[in-house]
Amino acid sequence: MSLNWDQQYQTEVTPWDKGAPAPPLLEWIESHPGQLQGRVFVPGCGLGHDVRAIASCPRVASVTGFDLSPRAIELARAFPAAGRETYETGDLFALGLPHLGAYDWVWEHTCFCAIDPARRAAYAEAMHSALVPGGFLLGVFYLDPYDDDHRPGGGPPHGSTTEGLLECFTASGQFSLMDNYLPSRAYPGREGLERVLLLVRN
Ligand SMILES: C[S@@+](CC[C@H](N)C(=O)[O-])C[C@H]1O[C@@H](n2cnc3c(N)ncnc32)[C@H](O)[C@@H]1O
Repeated sequence: MSLNWDQQYQTEVTPWDKGAPAPPLLEWIESHPGQLQGRVFVPGCGLGHDVRAIASCPRVASVTGFDLSPRAIELARAFPAAGRETYETGDLFALGLPHLGAYDWVWEHTCFCAIDPARRAAYAEAMHSALVPGGFLLGVFYLDPYDDDHRPGGGPPHGSTTEGLLECFTASGQFSLMDNYLPSRAYPGREGLERVLLLVRN
């Protein structure tokens, strides 16, 4: 399935947008005070709820919310500023020079599951290129929803498994795994369907 993301935002058909930051992100911030710091990149930020939650962390110097959809970025910019956040329209598969090696952290949430699985290695490469060596990729990954309990239509465009995620990010040696757990907080309906990974860029 391939969505026209900008059209989805233009027509306000955005079921993934919950109007609030990802609960696993808030859980992680609360349980790791001060760890999120420096320059943070948020690919596929949508309306930027996570961007603003990160921008309000005291040690975060800047947050760049980045999305393919001009309409999503327009809507994100209309929210009151929470800190030093900026937004940019662009394609994560074609990051410009200013983004290369520019970030200490990447926060991933429902961008990975939105892209064609054939491009997952390219996603990992793009995040590797955006981070400084030793930088972190922290993400909440929406797993495969198409099981007996969660019928098609209610989940992400492209599910994944924990094993598949680890293979994608660590097999090539680009990242090493630091943490891997089931978050205890989730949006209603996503309970038990997500995995938090913390990876360090080699
Ligand atoms: C399922 S939505 C999630 C948005 C946001 N993370 C949220 O939870 O509300 C996926 C987002 O990824 C963006 N996206 C898809 N492909 C992209 C690409 N190649 N580069 C940048 N953003 C992309 C879409 O425009 C969309 O906003």
